[in-house]
Amino acid sequence: MTDANRVFIFDTTLRDAEQTPGASLNVAEKLEVAQQLARLKVDIIEAGFPVSSNEDFEAVRRIGQEIEGPVICGLARAVAKDIDRAGEALKDAPNPRIHTFVGTSEIHLKGQMRKGQEEVLKMAVAAVEQAKSYCDDVEFSPMDAARTEPGYLFEVIEATIAAGATTINIPDTVGYAVPEEFGTLIEQIIAKVPNSDQAIISVHCHDDLGMAVINTLAAIKGGARQAECTINGLGERAGNASLEEIVMALKTRQDHFGYTTDVVSQEIISPSRLVSRLMGIAVQPNKAIVGANAFAHSSGIHQDGVIKQRNTFEIMEPKDVGLDDTEIVLTARSGRAALRHRLQALGHELEQEELNRVYEIFVELADKKKEVFDEDLIEIVGGDPGESTDHYELQYLHSVSGTGTVPSATVRLRIGDQTVQQAAWGDGPVDAAYAAIGLACGTDIQVDNYAIRAITSGSQALGEVTVHLSRAEEKVRGRGVSTDVIEASAKAYVDALNRLVVKSVKEEHQTV
Ligand code: KIV
Ligand code: ZN
Repeated sequence: MTDANRVFIFDTTLRDAEQTPGASLNVAEKLEVAQQLARLKVDIIEAGFPVSSNEDFEAVRRIGQEIEGPVICGLARAVAKDIDRAGEALKDAPNPRIHTFVGTSEIHLKGQMRKGQEEVLKMAVAAVEQAKSYCDDVEFSPMDAARTEPGYLFEVIEATIAAGATTINIPDTVGYAVPEEFGTLIEQIIAKVPNSDQAIISVHCHDDLGMAVINTLAAIKGGARQAECTINGLGERAGNASLEEIVMALKTRQDHFGYTTDVVSQEIISPSRLVSRLMGIAVQPNKAIVGANAFAHSSGIHQDGVIKQRNTFEIMEPKDVGLDDTEIVLTARSGRAALRHRLQALGHELEQEELNRVYEIFVELADKKKEVFDEDLIEIVGGDPGESTDHYELQYLHSVSGTGTVPSATVRLRIGDQTVQQAAWGDGPVDAAYAAIGLACGTDIQVDNYAIRAITSGSQALGEVTVHLSRAEEKVRGRGVSTDVIEASAKAYVDALNRLVVKSVKEEHQTV
């Protein structure tokens, strides 16, 4: 593998993706993302647009000073004050790059800039020369290149390389290109611009037609050696080419493409989750590589295949992107193979007859629920939670909560043959109900864990609460279901109390 086949990964999450409405990050958050990007070993981090705000300036400055490894880049329009600001922000960075750009398509020249081709060409050259006075590494982008008249585009590229640009980035700013056309454009740039061998040709594709990644790959085949992309494909409008998809396509189909990157693919999932959390933009579940379902199998046939031999239905291994393992989602479509596999992982080795019995219960439950979880299985096989009794019964529950109200609850429990009523307040209605039940049964019980999820969909969904309680060394789990989540919570607590009774009785017998 020669260096000619190496593709540089330029991450613009902190610049292009950060322009997404509502997704802006503060300096500390940007530093955290930049640290993850350095761990991922991207080649270049575009850290921001220093002239756009003091915060962006500070982020570029701090990232340039503190992040080791990648080249740190600052964006600047082809105007003097932008370039000065970028140069200033990057002055302490050991490997700085200034990325300057100007629109070159007729649509941009006439519709936005109201300038002629000659004038814009001069602006581009002057910008590159000025950027060169700050650092050797200068990138120039003829914005909207994909819609720029090719003859003029070649002229601008030749002139900016002559002025010292070391990277020429070809943006498909509005996501208009199609793969063959875009790949051919890159081939033509390389063939027709006489000094094109003196710069790296880069591409920057937007996803307006859902083709950002495929256009980037076509451009790489055409000779581009830098791909501009973002974590989770975030960016202006429909976003930019997704970093994880480009990297994993090149890695997984190395046989077809024949190119490499320096990215440590095992680090992919961490920045994906971090960026999603910090920007408040959830990753769609079916998103390639990093979506929650990307390695989750739900059809019985697929589950059976993957359990027998992973590559029957998986082209990448979860660990290659930093995930623990393939997920076998147990639903009504799952077969015995998937059930047995999951039960084995939970420590239950069942004979065929017992497996058939458990499978029947499983299917019945799976028909009622969207997904069957480990704790459901444990309960089906009669394991962990222990038997229940009806020593405690929830007879009455009244809870009060709302804005400006102290949450309170009144409960009436039957305990053995007695009836006890108590009221309490708490941090929320569930806390209040639990406090009231705790008072009613008068024992020192601790809530170790509480989880709630919807079993069915819609606003009338059944809520299922699982609560883990402990009393001294004894630990139990209880479960409650209701369309009223406070009631489901109280039922789960009472269920756990009943299991505690059985557990104590059993232990007494064992010690006698
Ligand atoms: O989409 C675009 O053209 C850009 C440039 C600044 C490179 O983001
Ligand atoms: Zn862009």
